[in-house]
Parts: sequence; structure tokens; C-alpha cells
Amino acid sequence: MLGKALMRQWTEDEITGLGSAQADIRSPDQIDKAVADNPEWIVLSAAYTDVDGCETNPMLAAAVNTQGAVNVAKAAANSRAKLLFISTDYVFDGKKNTPYEADDARAPINVYGKSKADAEEKILGLLPDACIVRTSWLFGPGGKCFPDTILKLAANRPEIDVVNDQRGCPTYTFDLADAIIRLCRAGAKGIVHSTNRGVCSWYEFASEIVQQRGLNTIIHPTTSDRFVRPAARPTYSVLSAASLSRYGIKMRNWQETLPDYLRERDKLLQVS
Ligand SMILES: NC(=O)c1ccc[n+]([C@@H]2O[C@H](COP(=O)([O-])OP(=O)(O)OC[C@H]3O[C@@H](n4cnc5c(N)ncnc54)[C@H](OP(=O)(O)O)[C@@H]3O)[C@@H](O)[C@H]2O)c1
Repeated sequence: MLGKALMRQWTEDEITGLGSAQADIRSPDQIDKAVADNPEWIVLSAAYTDVDGCETNPMLAAAVNTQGAVNVAKAAANSRAKLLFISTDYVFDGKKNTPYEADDARAPINVYGKSKADAEEKILGLLPDACIVRTSWLFGPGGKCFPDTILKLAANRPEIDVVNDQRGCPTYTFDLADAIIRLCRAGAKGIVHSTNRGVCSWYEFASEIVQQRGLNTIIHPTTSDRFVRPAARPTYSVLSAASLSRYGIKMRNWQETLPDYLRERDKLLQVS
């Protein structure tokens, strides 16, 4: 999802986009070949992102999200490329009630979060000047994401229950891609938090999606204990914008991005 947005938005430099078929990050040989043309930057967006899947398959989570990231960091070091690694709000436990700063201690509460937190630490050990961009609640056209799920459910159901006790920052992939491009141009280093502005619960997010789409579906607030899933989720995963502001980057409010998302999603549906 983010990889596609990066390829679409990054128009002013020479870019090569690679999926797992071209470069499996678990294979150091494949990664070495992928960076043989000595890129200036490597942006590592690839990950095993199925949070519940990670819980039942921790070996795969560690192999892709931690060791895969280490493989890419080593290749970046060998080819003198700068590395920008995409990470997640799930490196935190969600117990705070004020926004997480970039230097807050990592305390993941699920396997996916631990695999990304371990990757962050190992990357910074290998490449102290790497840039780690943590984001949250990603959505965008062409990917499995929350707004797409809500719109598909709303097409068939008059009422939907959505949890109201987890709060975070929805982030539109195209806006994040623009921020990543600007961070590379600025030679960014260290940990940067990059999300759209504004905070909501999943219930509030779903309500806004349905309202902006002009649907009559009723969204009911419910609690996480009614939707038990294999992986625990942080109840509060709001990332502070302070680290991003240092680069002069201010992202839009998440509500403002929804019309763009809905338009791009419609375009894709017309094509398919
Ligand atoms: N989604 C979110 O809400 C969210 C929130 C915070 C942070 N993030 C982070 O943001 C990044 C982008 O997330 P996303 O939602 O765009 O992910 P996504 O849509 O699930 O895409 C993940 C990509 O990773 C690639 N991949 C998986 N295993 C691989 C491997 N072994 N070698 C090479 N490529 C592999 C897949 O490539 P193929 O399709 O070719 O297999 C896929 O294109 C990830 O690093 C994720 O951890 C996501």
C-alpha cells in the first residue's frame, strides 16, 4: 500500500520499486543484487504487516521484519546508501495519554510490534545515521485498509459495531509518501514520527468515512473486549508531530485526506 503511493508520488528522481518477487528481504544475496547500482537512498517499506498473523507465526515476523531489515541495513552500509526504514506506533504499549515522542522508550505488546522494535534497534546499531519513520493507522487506495473494510461492510449492512476504546492517528499513504520524499531530500537522520494530524477512535474514523461517503449506515461504538483478536492492540497510539516539525513538515488533518482517498478508490474500482 505505501510502496505503491511512493512509486506514484516520487516523480522527480530515478526510482526503482521492488516487491518480494524481485527482492525477498530475507535473502542477503537478493538484496545485494537489488542495490548493485548503488542507490543514494533505500526506503524500506516492505514488512510482514498482518498483525494477528505475526502473533501465530512469530518466526516469520522475525525473519521478515527484523532479520530482513537487518539484511537491507547491511546492504545499505556496504553500498554506502542512506536508509529510511518505515516503522510503527506498535513499538509502544499505548499506556500513555499524551502523544508519544520519538525518544520515548519502546515497549511493544505484540509480536509484530516487537519485530519492528527489534529492527529499529539493530538498524541504528549498524547505521547510526539511518532514518526511522514511525507511522500509524495507514490507509490508501489499492490496499487492505480500514476505510476499505468499512465501505465494503457498509455496502451490505445497515448497522456496524466499531471499537471506540483505541485512539490513534489515521494516515493517508499519499501524504506519508510526500513526507518521506521530503525527509530524504532533507537528509533526515534518527527517529521521526510521521502521521496525519488529529486523533480519533476507530469508531470516530468509521463514522467520518460513512458520513463523507453519504451513506446511511449506522455506526455503533463498542469495546475491544467484544472483538478479541490474537494480537493485543495499544489503546493509545498517538505519535507526536514534534520530530517531523523539525524538518518543516506539517501534515494535513486526517479528515481532509478522506475525499482524496475516496476519489482514488473510486478510480481504481472503475478500472477493475
Ligand atoms: N498498515 C498500517 O496500518 C501500518 C501502520 C504503521 C506502520 N506500517 C508500516 O508501514 C510499512 C508499509 O505498510 P503497508 O501497509 O503499505 O504494507 P503492505 O500493504 O502489507 O505491503 C507490504 C509489502 O511488503 C512486501 N513484503 C512482504 N514480505 C516481503 C519480503 N520477505 N521481502 C520483500 N518484500 C516483502 C510485500 O511485497 P509483495 O506484495 O511483493 O509480496 C508488500 O508489498 C510497513 O513497514 C509497515 O510495518 C503500517
